[in-house]
Amino acid sequence: MKIEAKLLQVNPIQPEKDVIRRAAEVIRLGGLVAFPTETVYGLGADALNPEAVARIFTAKERPPNDPIIVHIADVEDLALLAKDPPEIARRLAEAFWPGPLTLVLPRAESVPLIVTAGLETVAVRMPSHPVALALIKASGTPIAAPSANLFGRPSPTTARHVLEDLGERVDLILDGGTTYIGVESTVLDLSAEKPTILRPGGTSREALCAILGEVEVARKIPREGEKLKSPGLMRRHYAPQATLLLFLGPEEAVLASMREKVSHLLREEKNVGLMLAQEDMVAFKGQPVFIQNLGPKGDLSQIAHRLFAAMRALDQKGVDVILARGFGSVGLGLAIEDRLLKAAGGRVIRL
Ligand code: TXA
Ligand code: MG
Repeated sequence: MKIEAKLLQVNPIQPEKDVIRRAAEVIRLGGLVAFPTETVYGLGADALNPEAVARIFTAKERPPNDPIIVHIADVEDLALLAKDPPEIARRLAEAFWPGPLTLVLPRAESVPLIVTAGLETVAVRMPSHPVALALIKASGTPIAAPSANLFGRPSPTTARHVLEDLGERVDLILDGGTTYIGVESTVLDLSAEKPTILRPGGTSREALCAILGEVEVARKIPREGEKLKSPGLMRRHYAPQATLLLFLGPEEAVLASMREKVSHLLREEKNVGLMLAQEDMVAFKGQPVFIQNLGPKGDLSQIAHRLFAAMRALDQKGVDVILARGFGSVGLGLAIEDRLLKAAGGRVIRL
């Protein structure tokens, strides 16, 4: 099948040189390569080639006002992309790069405006995934890459997810297996007066606080019609096709309320999907529902790792409604809650 030919297997730990060379060639020629990062799969193009970047927007059906992160493989390349980065950017880079932290900084002239959606700031990150690093190095250019999903859909954590969403629209997909973290990088705005988290992600607020002292977190759900600092803060986003209801609050109340809702939905003959912690599963034993076990509730890494894949799996089952619960807002819990809130698009039951 033609589509399958686009999938190239790559060793995620020691990427094969010939595979990387082929992919880098596509980038240099202005094409699109989907590749694994430690967070989610990215849809990459030469960040300094405006026509190549334009193809990203088309492939994803992404609105042109949503800026794209630029990926580098060497801290020194920060000077190429950002104008006079503040000292704190260097310190954060030293502490967290390579890794799931994106820094928003004043844009250098070399960065095409299509990348930043016309903004005078640019978002930069150095991923830690060996395939991503090897690809950037071999391409000899920074790589602009949003998550490799259709706009608004859950981010892809496997090459298969990329194929489902983008198929024919991407020139090459590097299949390096499942990504490690499973939620995207933390986007930290250093161009604001106070360092502000625009999107919680793989680097925790607590870890940033240890270096910055204090960090603001941008409000999760903007009011209708409010101007957005980061379009990633949009209301319904990272969303499955099914309607997702998010239950937040004390655990016992959450589970009781979910159980009640399940009975109600089953009486209405709805197909119901649940996203649960392993410990929650006994409460729904024997119920005719589809359950995605995200893992033990204390293991936030595993829950983050499985989150988007669970939404996609329930969509595949054709469920009408997904009931999900939060896992607090400590550490990775904040990013998990953020993605669930966006997937719920305001359908939140607070107990
Ligand atoms: O982990 C990740 O960050 C993944 C991998 C592929 O690196 N990328 C990713 O990109 O999630 P994307 O495009 O799906 O999300 C980037 C977020 C968006 O919410 C965008 O609005 C924000 O970063 N962003 C990018 N440039 C910005 C800027 N100059 N100012 C404010 N927000 C920006
Ligand atoms: Mg995205």
